[in-house]
Amino acid sequence: MAEVSVKNVVKRYGGAEVIHGVNVDIKDGEFVVLVGPSGCGKSTLLRMIAGLEAISGGTISIGGRVVNDVPPKERDIAMVFQSYALYPHKTVRDNMGFSLKIKGRPKAEIEEKVGKAAGILDLGKLLDRFPKQLSGGQRQRVAMGRAIVRDPQVFLFDEPLSNLDAKLRVAMRVEIKELHQRLRTTIVYVTHDQIEAMTMADKIVVMKDGRVEQIGAPLDLYDNPGNTFVAGFIGSPSMNFIKGRMDAAEGRPSFVSESGARFPVGDVKAENGQPVIYGIRPEHIDIGPGGIPVRVSVLEPTGSETQVFAKIGEDTIDAVVKDRLSVRPGEEVPFRIDPRRAHIFDGKSTARL
Ligand SMILES: Nc1ncnc2c1ncn2[C@@H]1O[C@H](COP(=O)(O)OP(=O)(O)O)[C@@H](O)[C@H]1O
Ligand SMILES: [Mg+2]
Repeated sequence: MAEVSVKNVVKRYGGAEVIHGVNVDIKDGEFVVLVGPSGCGKSTLLRMIAGLEAISGGTISIGGRVVNDVPPKERDIAMVFQSYALYPHKTVRDNMGFSLKIKGRPKAEIEEKVGKAAGILDLGKLLDRFPKQLSGGQRQRVAMGRAIVRDPQVFLFDEPLSNLDAKLRVAMRVEIKELHQRLRTTIVYVTHDQIEAMTMADKIVVMKDGRVEQIGAPLDLYDNPGNTFVAGFIGSPSMNFIKGRMDAAEGRPSFVSESGARFPVGDVKAENGQPVIYGIRPEHIDIGPGGIPVRVSVLEPTGSETQVFAKIGEDTIDAVVKDRLSVRPGEEVPFRIDPRRAHIFDGKSTARL
């Protein structure tokens, strides 16, 4: 096990800089998820940690040792990719043991380690099968088994579940989390899926355009997003954002949208008249007396809850409520907002105030 430290790391491809001085500290045994939209530099950062890409500036250390010039196979890491290329003509057993075999480890040791990994991943009955005789989820488990067998200091995962269907993805998410709870090996896990990040991570690193936007525990990012990007990226369905300004006309500060609707705010360090963006999560709105009248455009009942898509003036605002509603599109309902749940972001910088 080992900590991983990324300091001021820069990556350039030719003249184009794609990672602009990233800092991330990963503790020994921590499960860290790098999350962000496609193209933001997650894989590039992971591949630099793995040693598969040279770094153009900064320092990467694993277990206290600077590895900038250490080749991948000497970094004591194991990587699991989205396309888990198994050797098609080798059995599960031989796929899993292959890295030890090429290292010249004794047969008995390979047998023992493969057996142990197979036990952890429940692959014991499949050891003599070939990859084509396995389901997608089983293949992904073999790919993880291959990584476990190497007993690395750090596991690196790059979108390992993207090729799986939704149900299997959830199951594998739980398996990987269990795996981490059992092995306590440091994990750096890349995904564009914020649900994966929220459910699996001890710590999330939100990236955008080659920069780190915010680092924090999942619920910390959910409760205290630093800016509109993080606020919109973390949480599902996404936070509502409405443009407008602060207004103290009615005695106490509130928010007034560009189309004139008034919303409650909690304690916030914003000036009267300041252009701001009002943020409220759909799950922090309920329907009831005294709420702000909005016009319903679409209802999406899922059984356990109803997602209400609505308009207020020119703005759209969505709510997720536990009730089954009998309103029809076009009708008005009152949206009640707890002011303490509202987030106010600066209109220019988009930073949370
Ligand atoms: N080999 C490469 N040559 C040039 N540009 C690259 C190369 N690999 C990645 N990039 C660019 O670097 C940026 C980050 O890519 P990547 O790390 O793959 O993003 P992510 O994994 O977050 O989707 C993208 O703009 C991508 O086009
Ligand atoms: Mg990628």
